[in-house]
Amino acid sequence: MLAFNNRDRNRVQSKDLPIHGWYQFVLGYPPHLVRYYIEKFGLSQKDVILDPFAGTGTTLVEASMSNLVSWGVEANPITYFASKIKTYRNYNINTLENYLGYIFDSIKLSYKYHGIFEGTLDPFTLQTSLTPITVTKIDKISAEQERMIPRGFISPRPLSKVLIIREIIEKIEDINVRDFFKLALATFIVKDAGNISFGPEIGKTKSKEDVDSLYKFMTIASSMISDLQKTKLVAESTPYFGDARNLSAVLPRYLLRKVKYPAHRAGHLKTILAAREIFLVHDGT
Ligand SMILES: C[S@@+](CC[C@H](N)C(=O)[O-])C[C@H]1O[C@@H](n2cnc3c(N)ncnc32)[C@H](O)[C@@H]1O
Repeated sequence: MLAFNNRDRNRVQSKDLPIHGWYQFVLGYPPHLVRYYIEKFGLSQKDVILDPFAGTGTTLVEASMSNLVSWGVEANPITYFASKIKTYRNYNINTLENYLGYIFDSIKLSYKYHGIFEGTLDPFTLQTSLTPITVTKIDKISAEQERMIPRGFISPRPLSKVLIIREIIEKIEDINVRDFFKLALATFIVKDAGNISFGPEIGKTKSKEDVDSLYKFMTIASSMISDLQKTKLVAESTPYFGDARNLSAVLPRYLLRKVKYPAHRAGHLKTILAAREIFLVHDGT
């Protein structure tokens, strides 16, 4: 039995927040549930876990922390993206910190250029060997993105700030570093910049006309980096993008041979637009 009262049974425990907490997902279940089933099924290192509906990777991250190899399949691009970033095991903390310094300096230069002033001045002291950039032209969002973001989910001023930060992150060549900070940006949009509430359906909150973006974004990104110092992913976890009803089109053949139960019967495709911010940070490809 899970030793939790009803209130806490479905909540993420605070000790589980590192990495698991990188992206808020209404449909997610808590990591302690995965630990419970690992124990209940008596899984050991000779077993491999397959989560055909991997979401943001709770099963995969927890399996990896428990030194169990796992694979996941996920049909929603944003949750797949989050699971990929959360399960990547080769981040270099010094490199991330160096890029965080670059992002910080570039945001300050770009805001100065556009006459954007924020209350919190220099909340962080960061060293970087990288040359910052100044974003001189704020990108417009594409027509498709505009269609996907319902009116009012983000106000114009926070949106301009998000687009500046996105442009700065896009210039990072290393894809793993770039995607790491894109996930931080997605979290920043959900938590701080957007007018979004989860309850559990996605709703619209009162419009925020502005956001203290430098402080808030840097807090999220630096706490993600410090999570990597606190938490260790041990075993390999691999999320695959696709439809679990057709596993043969998603999993490599050598993995497919090992699947012994009909995962395709476990549900139907429901690509939920659980996170509209994907259209701001990631084009879903
Ligand atoms: C309940 S959530 C999974 C939660 C996840 N284990 C977590 O805690 O992060 C179910 C997930 O299944 C995905 N999904 C639904 N139908 C699918 C299908 N046919 N193939 C792959 N993924 C699917 C949804 O996009 C959603 O992310």
